[in-house]
Amino acid sequence: PAPGWSIAADVVVVGSGVAGLTAALRCEAAGLSTVVVTKARLDDGSTRWAQGGIAAALGEGDTPGQHLDDTLVAGAGLCDEEAVRLLVTEGPDAVRRLIETGARFDESSEGGLELTREGGHHRRRIAHAGGDATGAEISRALVEAVRARGMRTVENALVLDLLTDAEGRTAGVTLHVMGEGQHDGVGAVHAPAVVLATGGMGQVFSATTNPSVSTGDGVALALRAGAEVSDLEFVQFHPTVLFLGPDAEGQQPLVSEAVRGEGAHLVDADGVRFMVGQHELAELAPRDIVAKGITRRMQEQDAEHMYLDARHFGAEMWEHRFPTILAACRAHGIDPVTQPVPVAPAAHYASGGVRTDAHGRTTVPGLYACGEVACTGVHGANRLASNSLLEGLVYAERIAADIAATGLHARVPQPLPYPEIPEHPLQSAEARFTIQRIMTGGAGVLRSAESLTKAADQLQRLHTDAREALAEHGKTAEPGVDTWEATNLLCVARVLVAAARLREETRGCHWREDHPERDDTAWRRHIVVRLNPDRS
Ligand code: SIN
Repeated sequence: PAPGWSIAADVVVVGSGVAGLTAALRCEAAGLSTVVVTKARLDDGSTRWAQGGIAAALGEGDTPGQHLDDTLVAGAGLCDEEAVRLLVTEGPDAVRRLIETGARFDESSEGGLELTREGGHHRRRIAHAGGDATGAEISRALVEAVRARGMRTVENALVLDLLTDAEGRTAGVTLHVMGEGQHDGVGAVHAPAVVLATGGMGQVFSATTNPSVSTGDGVALALRAGAEVSDLEFVQFHPTVLFLGPDAEGQQPLVSEAVRGEGAHLVDADGVRFMVGQHELAELAPRDIVAKGITRRMQEQDAEHMYLDARHFGAEMWEHRFPTILAACRAHGIDPVTQPVPVAPAAHYASGGVRTDAHGRTTVPGLYACGEVACTGVHGANRLASNSLLEGLVYAERIAADIAATGLHARVPQPLPYPEIPEHPLQSAEARFTIQRIMTGGAGVLRSAESLTKAADQLQRLHTDAREALAEHGKTAEPGVDTWEATNLLCVARVLVAAARLREETRGCHWREDHPERDDTAWRRHIVVRLNPDRS
């Protein structure tokens, strides 16, 4: 459908997590007229659910160089070292600016920030808030700052596609908006700069820590717009997600890595600490190693989960340091003060995404990306714990600085008519669950040529059926948030599986049973995908 309404701005920021709101606040501070559009409410994305914290070299004796080293090791040979250097050197000041914006972090009895450890970090460098409610506090502070400045926001606005001009430059986005008065229905924001900050795609799998809004919308938009997307095969599975049964679907409660950072043990069905001896950091090894350790032991014992044992913390520490996790466990009938907590890995973070340079620019002029939707190169094949909130902050600031410095916003966009993209016919709302089962079955923690080929064939069938229905009836499903989300999930799932099939090695969080070794000769490189090259 053609947009029924339009508004204009210098910059439209799509998404309202740490990356989106930081970009918006910095753009506004630089004098750019900025609109934030977001799929649900301002605080509904993944940021609010972040527990452990935000990593930065803020502690005594710690340095950006040590943070760089830990990040590169976790990234398993595929980090862009320069991108990481920017992250770790600009990170501490970016956190200080976040504090100036209003975020309140936990402090030690001496008055400085209280810092914890997580997997892969050799230092205590994770700042946290409310014990284990860091993301909620960051989200609160940023939403309040946006509201206090009276910034323009449109909620319940699902982004559809990029608008471009005759030269292939960004000219805005189209949106599907529900229940927002004058901005209801399909509309557009015209702007010469678009910042994608739509978060991740965890909902492509059945069990994930991500909220239901994480459906890969930004990556799908970028693919349809002809932008380059990289590293989609590197999906991080968080090792310790509360196990709610083998058929649990959708968002699952996270049990933060900070619980292990404070000394919890991973034990198997016999009570044995199986990570000891597997890695010098044992339970605090990088996340991919712990997720693999858990999965292997589950296979060996034919068990559905392992246990996280932190009974030795005692009630006071649980209540003070991990109130969110304590409440989530108790809500499901498990008391971590007296019982080991059943845990299993679940999809958590997309290390890949829309490929950007050091300024957050994608390969389409005027289109930027930051946060989980982006692939800046800082995560490589496996993100280091708590680097994602930091990446959102640092690269959002870099984007605002770049737009202001290049004068990009001064161009008046001349959008071509709304793009019709028949290559991506609408999927039914139910297809979401089919896609999730296919992906969990074939492209989960453990992958092989066989499982991936089966998944690719099943996804292709969904796509072909929709194309045939379109050709036959002129339409497939009714346009709406559910059907667009399912369509986006299918789009990103197909590219993810294609990349995972291609990468015939095991590296970082990509684990191929049929290629169990890391292959630096053939595979120390990125898989970059670009669709519809005629559109950019
Ligand atoms: C956690 O608290 O374990 C999650 C932190 C992260 O994913 O960076």
